[in-house]
Amino acid sequence: MKPYVFIARKMPEEIVNKLADRYEVGMWEKEEEPVPKERLAEECQKADAVFCTITEAMSGDMLRQSPKLKVIATMAVGYNNIDIETAAELGIKVAHTPEVLTETTADLTFALLMAAARRVEEAALSIKQNQWSSWSPFHLTGRDVFGATLGIIGMGRIGEAVARRAAGFNMEVLYHNRSRKKEAEDRLGVIYTGKNELIERADFLCVMAPYSKDTHHLIGKEEFRRMKPTAILINSSRGGVVDEKALYQALQNKEITGAGLDVFENEPIDSAHPLLELSNVTATPHIGSASVKTRMAMAHMTADHILQALSGEELTHRVV
Ligand code: DGY
Repeated sequence: MKPYVFIARKMPEEIVNKLADRYEVGMWEKEEEPVPKERLAEECQKADAVFCTITEAMSGDMLRQSPKLKVIATMAVGYNNIDIETAAELGIKVAHTPEVLTETTADLTFALLMAAARRVEEAALSIKQNQWSSWSPFHLTGRDVFGATLGIIGMGRIGEAVARRAAGFNMEVLYHNRSRKKEAEDRLGVIYTGKNELIERADFLCVMAPYSKDTHHLIGKEEFRRMKPTAILINSSRGGVVDEKALYQALQNKEITGAGLDVFENEPIDSAHPLLELSNVTATPHIGSASVKTRMAMAHMTADHILQALSGEELTHRVV
């Protein structure tokens, strides 16, 4: 009997065919909707391999009830939706898709930074809502990006790619990371600082750390209190890294000037969420890696991980 692969989000034909050429393949067919938890659990029980994304919670219980499962390949760099410890314990391989999305995610991060700095969303809305009565000296004035200080928390691949973009804007780049990266300092001219110093000096604070219990609410009330009142927070990593209630308070109380957010504690965020009512919040729906080329590269890499795992080869990007 051929191994069974379950693809948990609808994929283009060329991706499905890559797997269907060799294996029996089942796929969740609805484009805009994730597979319900119960159906995912049923599929996992019979699957040898699961192709998932960030919308599928691969819990420990689900993995324990999936006796045939050999590999989970996620079409994402972040894997906080997968119970990695249980997967390791059960000998289930987990693979993710770093590298291919680095530049695309850094582009979006920088786009959010610039949009929040120059109030692009507010400005675009004002013209569409017929609120432009005349050019006026201080109408919609924002913050300069060129020459400003950028603080990056989490200097991984995407952090480095953001720092490279910042160099073109003559920014001073400070970073904080679990471990100091001397080689990156020489190559990119970035400066290592303690977390508090970085937060106090940054005009733009970019959160690029992966989500885990150690980074849960890494930026909260205390951090907002330390930030400059002119500073802008950018988050394109995971919502849970920032305490959203504290962020709302900080924006309301003008402890900081604005925020650019691509990720939220609960996704999709409710359109009635208080954060979305603030004009100084620029928000996008988790589209960091969403270019056609990059999403296709991620999908190919995910399918390749399954092919590798089921034929006993090394996985290109194995987590456990
Ligand atoms: C990732 O890859 O982790 C992104 O957040 C989803 O594209």
